[in-house]
Formats: sequence, C-alpha cells, structure tokens
Amino acid sequence: MLDRLRRNPCFAGWMPGAALVAALAVFTFGGAVRGALCQTPADSATTAAPSGAGPADGSPWWKHALIYEIYPRSFQDSNGDGVGDLNGITSRMDYLHTLGVDAVWLSPLYPSPQVDFGYDISDYENVDPQYGTLADFDKLVAAAKQRDIRIIMDMVMNHTSDKHAWFVESKSSKTNPKRDWYVWRDAKGYGPDGKPIPPNNWVSVFGGSAWEWDPATKQFYYHEFYKQQPDLNWRNPEVEKAMFDTVKFWLDRGVAGFRLDAIPTLFEDPQLRDEPVLGGVNAFGDPKVSDIYTTNLPEVHDVMRRLRKLVDSYPGDRVLIGETYLPNTAELDKWYGGAKHDELQLPMDMLVGFTNKLDASLFRKRINEAETELNGNQPLFVFDNHDNPRSWNRYGDGVHDMAIAKLIATMLYTSHATAMTYYGAEIGMVTTTPSRKEDVKDPIGVTGWPKEKGRDGERTPMQWNDGKDAGFSTAAKTWLPVAPDYKTVNVKTESGEPESLLKWNEKLIAMRGTNRTLRDGRQVMLDETNPSVLSYVREGVGGEAAVVVAMNFTAEPQTVSLDVKGAGGTVSTLLTDAPALRKTTSLQKITLPPFASWVGTVK
Ligand code: GLC
Repeated sequence: MLDRLRRNPCFAGWMPGAALVAALAVFTFGGAVRGALCQTPADSATTAAPSGAGPADGSPWWKHALIYEIYPRSFQDSNGDGVGDLNGITSRMDYLHTLGVDAVWLSPLYPSPQVDFGYDISDYENVDPQYGTLADFDKLVAAAKQRDIRIIMDMVMNHTSDKHAWFVESKSSKTNPKRDWYVWRDAKGYGPDGKPIPPNNWVSVFGGSAWEWDPATKQFYYHEFYKQQPDLNWRNPEVEKAMFDTVKFWLDRGVAGFRLDAIPTLFEDPQLRDEPVLGGVNAFGDPKVSDIYTTNLPEVHDVMRRLRKLVDSYPGDRVLIGETYLPNTAELDKWYGGAKHDELQLPMDMLVGFTNKLDASLFRKRINEAETELNGNQPLFVFDNHDNPRSWNRYGDGVHDMAIAKLIATMLYTSHATAMTYYGAEIGMVTTTPSRKEDVKDPIGVTGWPKEKGRDGERTPMQWNDGKDAGFSTAAKTWLPVAPDYKTVNVKTESGEPESLLKWNEKLIAMRGTNRTLRDGRQVMLDETNPSVLSYVREGVGGEAAVVVAMNFTAEPQTVSLDVKGAGGTVSTLLTDAPALRKTTSLQKITLPPFASWVGTVK
C-alpha cells in the first residue's frame, strides 16, 4: 500500500504500506478567455454559471452536494478498446442523475504518457486521445448540465509529465529560460565510483531517491512522485502564471471547479535540508524519513489565496477541493483560510473516512471536530478514492460486510458534511488486488511488489450488469480485469433488489436532498460515552423535526436510549436495515442488531 497517499492521519507520519495492511487484518482478501475557440455548446456563455442555479436558500451548491469521483479509464468504454472514455461517461449521465449526484470529479483526462495513469500531464489544455476529444468533453459538460450535474476537473499543479513541453525545454540546457521552472540542483559531490550524490536524503513517495540525475546538463531534478513527474518550482512566479492560465482555460470552458492533486506538496524547503530520519525502511526498501521539508510548507497558503481569488472572479460558485491528507483538524482548518475563509472551500477531511478502524468513539471524535473546530467552514467527508483500498474492505469484517457498508454510507450521507464518493462504492465494489506481479498495471505495484501491490485493486471496471465485461466494455480484454463478483454485484441486479446497497444509497441520498434538517441542521452527538453505538441528532431546521441517527459499530446487538434535548415523544423511522426497528415509536431502549443503522425523526 502506498505510504504517502494512504497516510493514516492518526499518526504524524505516513503509515508504511505493510503496517497498514497489518492494521487492516479484517481484509477479506489477502487564460484569459480563449475567445471563439473555446466557445462551445457546453458553455456558450463562458462566464455563465456551470450548471443549475443552486439551492433556493442561496447557499452555494457545493455545501450540500454529493460529489462523485470517476476514474475515466474504468467507468464506461464506448469504443470497445477496453479503456473507459468520455463518451462512455456521457452515456451514463442518467444513472448519475438518478443516483442523486450533484457534481462529478473526473480524475485526469489530459494528454499524458500515462505513467501514473494521467497524473503525469503533458498538455493541460487538451484531452488524451484514448479518452476522446475536447468536443467530446464539451458534450459531456452539456449532458451533465442538462441534468443539473457539474463537472470538476482534477488539477495537478505540483508536477508535470517529463514529456510536457515546459520540462523538455527546462531540461534542454542550464541556460534555458524555463530551467528554473523545475527544481534543479547540483550534485552534493561525487562518490568514489564517480557517481553523483543527490543534494539530500529526500525520498520519492513512489520509491527511491526523489532526485534524478540528468547526465546531459549534469544536475539533479526533484520529483516527489515518479521520476517522470518532475516537480514544478512554485518559487518562480512564471510557473504560477502558466498554471493559473490553464485553470482559466477550464473555467472558461464551463467547469465547476477543481480537485487539487497532492496540493500540500507544492513547495520544498529552499535550503534543501535533510528530512529527519524516522528509522526503519518502507515498502520500497527506502529509509523512512519525515516530510517536514517537502509537505505542507506555509508558502502554499499564499498560492491558495490567489487561486481562490481567481476562481471567485468567475460566477456560479466555482469550487476548490483539496487532496489534503493532514495530521489534524487545526491543520485542515488552515486550508480553508480559517476564519478568513479565503482559501479552499472544500479541503478533504481525510481524518474521518480513513481511520480504517470501525470504532464508534473515534468517529464521534473526528466528526465532532469537523463540526466544531473548523471555524464554521464546511467539512468534506470521503471514504473512497482511487488511491486506497475500497471502504468495503477497509472497514468490512468479512462477515457483516453489507451491513457495515450501509453503516458507512449512513454516516457519510446523514452527516453535516459535503459528501464525496467514488464510482462503485454505491454498489459495494470490492478491492481486487492482482495476485501476480506480471498482471500489475500501477508501476508502484511493480517496484514495490510484494509489500506494495499498487492501486489496481480499487480501479477495476465499473460493474453495470452481469453480462460481458460487466457492461463496461465489449473488448476481449479490459485494461484491468472486471472483478469476479460482477454477476451479483452490479447496477442492474441491485436496481431490482429493494434491500440492495445501491437502493440503500439512493434512499439516503434522496433523503439528504429533500430534508432541510439533514441539509442544514447542526450535528450534535448523543450518548457520548457509548463505545459501541455512534448516535447523533441533526437539529431541526425551520420548525422541522430533528433527525436522529444511531449505528451499531459492533458484531453484537446493542441497546441504547437516546435523549434529544427539547424533543417531544413523536418518533418515526425514515430508514433502517433492521426490520424490527421499522416501527420504532420511542428512542428509549432501542436494540440495534449487529452493525445496524437506524435513521428517524423526533418531534
Ligand atoms: C495524487 C493522486 C495519485 C497520484 C499522485 C501523483 O495523490 O491521487 O493517484 O499518483 O497524486 O500525482
């Protein structure tokens, strides 16, 4: 498992892959406006709001949104080459609409050598031919807009591909005007064998030294990720200008905002000080070092404030979402700009969704912190993404997986936070890690095998039906194999089963969309010392009934009595997976079966 991307926020450092696997013993498997050129059907008024007008109460649309991450390679293939594409996504818009999705975050679809499957961008203002064309993108945005769905781009600002024209120029000579766009340094010295010694002990998140020697110009360049992903030098104002121009390109094209990739890693210590050594080795065999000189440096916040200003200059509440694995809520709050609210609107709160421990007390603490310690900023909860084993496996116990998946969904959709999910989570797709090194596609799974098996497991094709390639493709071979459980775990089958995970998710999402209290009510914890049952109230808004949620985090039945301040005695069930609780009329002595969830109103 990938250390940096799979940081366990409970710890100050990155959790080594192997240690995280061990901790998860519950696993069931081992510019400016570009003028007429940009005018498209999707955004005929380039500065128009990207989609519907937003909620009637005037709050920005993203405050109550469900944001759905799509990994384009794996969602829907429209041309039979075994790789998903933009027309495929467009063809599934009705599905997303029915599910209740407000915005789609598209993982990178730009031209790329695909070393890191799109996170190595060689052109920020186009679409990779294997996914389609800019015209296909515009059709996608238009189809989404018709259904009131917004499109959010993945913006990779920390690094480019080594094939990007900027880097090609930068590498061409020490005197090239773009030399300083990247982080170039002389060797610290030369070893007895004549080999150049890297400037310091920094290691790449993807294994090995973070410095790559260029024999032609006799200097090292810095790469936080693969050597094919050289880091941009954000201390050079030209870099900011160029990158902000690409941001404008997409805003002008009608996108609703950006998910900022690996954003805390934008700056490095200018003195290039060695990272403190933590002891031991990681999954790649590298010495474990801290990241205090390469991550979350204070300078990044100045850039975020300027980026926010740029985004705010567009109408329609465009949003900035951050990939922010941070050690605590105080650090997370800084990414909003704290009480000034002038940085990102939605830095991801990885402290909740990636506890990787089904522990009621821990979730109570983390959710409470998000509710009370973020200066009134809006939390964004997320349990699944393309870098981590699926929540089904991280939280499942192998026996009660379905009930646990329903519980996780309940926590996500009944909380006060904006919700983010990942394709396939709604139907219970599982992590399907390759069992043989020769099948691995994610290069870190090749270099790190067998300790680090890569991220293929959470990127398998979407399971639409029980037919060929699960309805994902018509190809003889899909880019990653379809998970073997597709015959039963798929959209078509689950749509016909009232008790399916898909139906459970649809109901929760619909409830959240229509119940004002679920949208806006303050979230207050109940029965606060109970180690087994997490319960809370969403306080009634505008005279509406309060909503109470209770979830049993254990494999044994648990009885709870919940006292909701100011509430009378009229209780009614909105949703539960415990048949015996459907007719609940009192909050006293409710017995929740193992891992059951109950959601109801009290007035
Ligand atoms: C982010 C992405 C991950 C990628 C890395 C480098 O963490 O989510 O998939 O490999 O950045 O761009």
